Amino acid sequence: MNDAKPESRAGLSSFSSPVKVLFTCLLLTIGVAYLFAILYLYLIEIEPHRSKGDGFVEAVILKYYGARGETRLGAALNGSMGDNITPAQKQEIFKWIEGGASEKDFPKVIDIFKDNCAVCHSPESGMPLPPLTGFEEISVYTGMDMGQSVKALVRVSHVHLFGMSFIFFLTGGIFSLSAIDARWRIILIATPFIAIWVDIGSWWFTKLRPVFAYTVIFGGVLMGLALLAQILISLGEMWLWNRSDQD
Ligand code: HEC
Repeated sequence: MNDAKPESRAGLSSFSSPVKVLFTCLLLTIGVAYLFAILYLYLIEIEPHRSKGDGFVEAVILKYYGARGETRLGAALNGSMGDNITPAQKQEIFKWIEGGASEKDFPKVIDIFKDNCAVCHSPESGMPLPPLTGFEEISVYTGMDMGQSVKALVRVSHVHLFGMSFIFFLTGGIFSLSAIDARWRIILIATPFIAIWVDIGSWWFTKLRPVFAYTVIFGGVLMGLALLAQILISLGEMWLWNRSDQD
């Protein structure tokens, strides 16, 4: 009987009740844990930015890419301080800021500060203002939110990859015993793994380019849907669509 398909029988419904209860408790607990993960994501990453009118994409960008356009120097120049220089000079300074406001590129803009700002922003002016003549002094105002640090990303990446692979192994392991078509099982078992690679890989890419916030979200949603499908199909097969009426 070579062409007998040993897998296409009763699947999960044929397991004994203790095993089914074990599988069910595990799947339900992981499902609830997942709901809490979504709630956590909402409360920590999304809710705080809602007052500013930012949505999910903006929240992801802020987290990984940061808010690089917003420096105090930039804000001052966009405000009344900008009246002290020409638009071309202003553009020069913004180019320097967007390039990371580095000490290396500082010589390109040092004269603009010396010629236009030092009148007021220097000890000689006698005004009680922050001096803005040297790199150190100016860099106080060019600090920007660069998003999550590489160290933090390394930490959350490895924790997630280790942790999620265990969860996917458990849910996928149970689901692999299901009676549904092997092709679908293969797809649904591989999907969460691929999704987490996309998701975590995109955290890193978002640090470089904000547009990858979309693939962060895509990966997360895909992972959730695949996990949900695995859990629902497994539970349904164990308790609802009983194919082994004999036992
Ligand atoms: C005519 C005098 C004057 C000149 C010229 C001037 N500033 Fe100012 N600046 C001020 C005063 C007064 C304040 C404090 C009040 C305020 O913030 O408006 C200030 C505040 C600032 C601050 C602090 C804002 C903060 O976040 O606390 C920055 C940064 C700044 N100036 C940058 C510049 C730059 C860059 C230039 C040159 C393009 C410049 N200023 C030229 C008078 C001047």
